[in-house]
Amino acid sequence: MYKVLTLNNISVKGLERLPRDRYEVASEIAHPDVILVRSADMHGMEIPPTVKAVARAGAGVNNIPVAELTRRGIPVFNAPGANANAVKELVLAGMLLAARNICQAWHYVRGLEGEEAAMEREVEAGKKRFRGFELPGRTLGVIGLGAIGVQVANTALRLGMKVLGYDPQITVERAWQLSSEVAQAHSPDDLVARSDFVTLHVPLTETTRHKINAERLALMRPGAVLLNFARREIVDEEAVLAALDAGRLHAYVCDFPSPRIKDHPRVVALPHIGASTVEAEENCAVMVAEQVRDWLENGQVRNA
Ligand code: MLT
Repeated sequence: MYKVLTLNNISVKGLERLPRDRYEVASEIAHPDVILVRSADMHGMEIPPTVKAVARAGAGVNNIPVAELTRRGIPVFNAPGANANAVKELVLAGMLLAARNICQAWHYVRGLEGEEAAMEREVEAGKKRFRGFELPGRTLGVIGLGAIGVQVANTALRLGMKVLGYDPQITVERAWQLSSEVAQAHSPDDLVARSDFVTLHVPLTETTRHKINAERLALMRPGAVLLNFARREIVDEEAVLAALDAGRLHAYVCDFPSPRIKDHPRVVALPHIGASTVEAEENCAVMVAEQVRDWLENGQVRNA
């Protein structure tokens, strides 16, 4: 019997791939063979010597001590692409939210008081400040052309946007999926300088930490929108606040409830829900459960 320790809720669809006659799955279990995790931070956690694999039901692995596990010969599996559609949809929503000032307009309406006729008069004048802009013809810059970046780029083209991409390490598989209409930027600086929207789809590493900093923000087009559905630390939040206050950035839309920035009137901060859809959770759980099964039962490694 293989023992699987789950540190977060894992979709039933995935757990069904680990049949009960061969797998015992529980959130507390002694001597686990495998640890299944979503967002729980495993840094600092004592990983029992029985563990033969760690599997993340998601794409990013920055919550897992990969270097330590690799030293111990323990593979780390993940689910690249399994939640890409979910994240892409939220990025598109983020672009529209920012372009049409939807959150600000919604807050404004909620704050209206008084009689209906007076409210209508107030709205006639007040709504002018929410005038937005449209997407066709605008340029979207996509930094990071992995599964999510490629989907975002291709969909933005279909909305009539121009798309610039930047990724020095794009895989052959992704390059084939990327529309030939996506122009390649020479560098991140070149990309931000030529984009009306910049969206980030890179993992968090030492080279991507604060990839968007004060110097890069200074290169951005006045009134541009920055979207971060990757990892919070990829953006220097202090520099973003300064750029928003200086009127350089129109909006910052991110998927992190950062206390420092969440109340700024032109920040839309979400509670890391990019991959929180029924479909994405199922896809990720199924993908990692199958990898775990292949590894434990046949010694096969995929996506480690
Ligand atoms: C990912 O890494 O797959 C996404 O950020 C979503 C998540 O953290 O679950």
